[in-house]
Formats: sequence, C-alpha cells, structure tokens
Amino acid sequence: RTRLEHFYSLEHVIDGLQSAKKILVLSGAGISTSLGIPDFRSSQGFYAKLEHLGLSDPQDVFDLGIFHTDPTVFYLIAHMILPPEHSFTPMHAFIKTLDDKGILLRNYTQNIDNLESNVGINSDRVVQCHGSFATATCVTCKNTIPGHEIFECIRNKEVAYCTKCTKSRLALMDKDDAYVPESYGVMKPDITFFGELLPAKFHDTINEDLHECDLVISVGTSLKVAPVADIVDKVPPSVPQILINRDPITHCNFDVSLLGYCDDVAELLERKLGWKDEKEKSEKF
Ligand code: OAD
Repeated sequence: RTRLEHFYSLEHVIDGLQSAKKILVLSGAGISTSLGIPDFRSSQGFYAKLEHLGLSDPQDVFDLGIFHTDPTVFYLIAHMILPPEHSFTPMHAFIKTLDDKGILLRNYTQNIDNLESNVGINSDRVVQCHGSFATATCVTCKNTIPGHEIFECIRNKEVAYCTKCTKSRLALMDKDDAYVPESYGVMKPDITFFGELLPAKFHDTINEDLHECDLVISVGTSLKVAPVADIVDKVPPSVPQILINRDPITHCNFDVSLLGYCDDVAELLERKLGWKDEKEKSEKF
C-alpha cells in the first residue's frame, strides 16, 4: 500500500505528537520485556523456551482444543509468562501520560499481563485484545474469579480447579462408568486462545477508532497475529504511523520507525516533548 510520507526526522515525530489529539497505540510483548517477561517470537522469547515440549507448533499452548483435552500443557508453562502484580515499564508510563494529557484515543494491547491496569490507564481507553490474566473463568460452570487466585497453582505448575465444581467433579469421578472430561471444572485464565473470538470490546471500538484516530503508534510488536496486526493496514492513508520497536518490521509501511529499546525511546520522546521536565516540576510541588 502506498503511504504518504509524514515524518522525515525525529523533529517531525515530536511535531506529530504535539499536534495529535487522538492517538491509537497498538502495543505488544516488547513493552514488557524490560521487566523480565519474555516476548513471544524473539530468539530468547517464550515460544523458543517451549522447544523441549516437542509441540509441532509452540502456539499450541494457547490452543483451545488442546486446553480442553489436556489442560496440563498450559499449566506446565504458564508460570513463564505470569505477570508481576504491581509493576509497569517506562513505556507503559508513556502511554499513561498520553491518557493523562487527553490525547490517547485507545491503547489496543495484545499483552495479557494487564500492566496497563497497573500503570493506571483509564480502562475505557484500553482494549486487551487477547484478554488477560486479570480474571479466570471455569470452563464448566463459567464462574469468574480474580486471576491472582490461581497464580499459586500456576507457580506450582498445577492445574487450577473451580471450587464450585469440586463436589460434582469428585462425584463424577467416583462413578465407574462416567466420562469425566480432562477439563471438567478447570479454571482458564481469560486469555484469548487460538480458536476463541476476541473480546467484544475489540469489535465494538475498532471501526470507529480507525476513523477517528489522527496518529498511530505501534510499539513492541512483531505484528504477526491477525486481526490485531491488520489494524495498521486499515488505518486511513492520511493518518501518520510510527513504529517503535527493537527489530525492524518489513511487512508493514510505517512513516517512521524508531528502532531501539522502547523504554529508551519513551524517555527520549518525553525529554524532547518537555514532558519529563513537567513531570519533575509537578513532583517537586
Ligand atoms: P512478539 O514476540 O511476536 O513480538 C515482540 C516484538 O517486540 C519483537 O518485534 C521484538 O523485536 C520487540 N521487542 C522485544 N523487546 C523489546 C524492547 N525492550 N523494546 C522494543 N521492542 C522490543 O509479540 P507480539 O507481537 O506481542 O498471543 O505477539 C502477538 C501475540 O502473539 C501475543 O499477544 C500472543 C502471541 O501468540 C497470546 O498471548 C494469546
């Protein structure tokens, strides 16, 4: 697709950020790696760490069918991506600053770590496109609980079961001829697995946001997973798009790519925009 060239230098990026009123931020795993949470597709990423499992495709750990037949596959590895409950990164803080300034239209995050909530971005302004660890739901009775209640099981690599379904599960298991599915009464974190629909909020907001946004920032994502990755192609050509990423992305057209660690880029932008001074002053008083 042919795109207009809007930015030619960092100064153009700064001008663009200063004049934008409705910024759409599309974020991915790269914005959380500085906290030790692996991304997915890098050479040291989560999928590379799963080679020992012998799966034909490491993405199968997020396959709904496999979860139902054998939830132990997910519970064996989930500890590797368990999010910290109170931390966030300078890049999350940058997105929160956009929100505080009233210029964040929406943060579409593919991350399941819920760090947008830790940093305090207004929940109306966040779409967790792939769900998150914030809650978990029983696959049998659909009871939903706070996600942290199953974190201990995840840390211990044990399947978490629904307390409401324990009785009926044990009763079924006691019957000689009863078939008890492996996933009976299993709690599933409310992460969108492959084979599941994206949360309704994504579909409710994306079309209007595509028409409203006046600047797009894609940050810390390889843009390999649809439909989120398709967002960048659907943005009207008149809207400038910035990439902030460690590695270049060659299959999408950005007006400018700021390549590097996103926390460093966030710091650089905040300094150039004068937002760092503003923050320091407001902290003093
Ligand atoms: P990927 O692992 O595919 O891409 C992460 C990108 O972040 C890579 O391009 C890295 O170069 C970049 N990166 C890593 N650390 C960085 C840093 N400190 N600063 C800047 N860039 C950095 O992750 P996603 O694109 O988020 O689905 O993956 C999308 C989806 O694929 C995920 O949501 C996940 C997975 O299957 C589910 O969790 C269901």
